[in-house]
Amino acid sequence: MSPAAADRAAESLLAFWAEAGVDAMLLDEPVDRIEAGKFVAPRPPERKAATNPAAARAAAPSPDIAAAVAEARELAAQAQDLDALKAAIAAFDGCPLKFAGARQAVFARGAPDAPLMIVGEGPGGEEDARGEPFVGRAGQLLDRMLAAAGLTDRVFITNTVFWRPPGNRTPAPSEQLVCAPFVERAIELVAPKMLLLAGGAAAKSMLKREEGILSLRGRWFEWRSSDGRLELPAMPTLHPAFLLRQPGAKKKAWSDLLTLMERLDRPERGA
Ligand code: URA
Repeated sequence: MSPAAADRAAESLLAFWAEAGVDAMLLDEPVDRIEAGKFVAPRPPERKAATNPAAARAAAPSPDIAAAVAEARELAAQAQDLDALKAAIAAFDGCPLKFAGARQAVFARGAPDAPLMIVGEGPGGEEDARGEPFVGRAGQLLDRMLAAAGLTDRVFITNTVFWRPPGNRTPAPSEQLVCAPFVERAIELVAPKMLLLAGGAAAKSMLKREEGILSLRGRWFEWRSSDGRLELPAMPTLHPAFLLRQPGAKKKAWSDLLTLMERLDRPERGA
């Protein structure tokens, strides 16, 4: 192999690793993977489990998780604006991802009074470094799609978890569960008209559904806050990172966005 071809092969391998979340050979601080893994717990109970007390008991979160959720709820409820919510998230120690190698908490970006809130899965390497969601390659694609749809200034963007999962793995349901009160509070404070859920991990955790994203995408669901006081239309769509890997799927995501925009701009009944 010529030196130039070897350079290209090495670059391509590094790009592949970076995409998979391997962006450092060694971290500055050791990571206790056993401690981080302990927290992984069963999925949150599905709503239908409530009708069956035995199943509801079996699916109930562990005491650690329940305590972290309760603390998150209290902190989130005290936050009277988005800055206070951001500070509360940064101070919250109840999500194990915070101690699994993440550099900082990544909360949100966008218009604080946006009619559309986008909820992604969780921060990746670029987001972890910069402290803002969706600023890496997937985020740039998302921004291009939003710009093409004329939505750039009409979105507020956050994630189901606020710390980068190690190796960019999918966040565990328990990790999403403890962050959920902050996501709910963000929804309450921004008061969007609707939600766009980017990718299967966001759709499943926000909607408490088990189906894959290919069956959920492009359909309307009702998102409900945990106390049932808030309800919003929510549409799952394909994650932009998936679109980078499968460009042929972009037309499906675009069609989802068009369906969503039609409803976003529909005059409210009685208005
Ligand atoms: N993927 C996500 O789901 N969220 C981000 O913030 C970045 C990439």
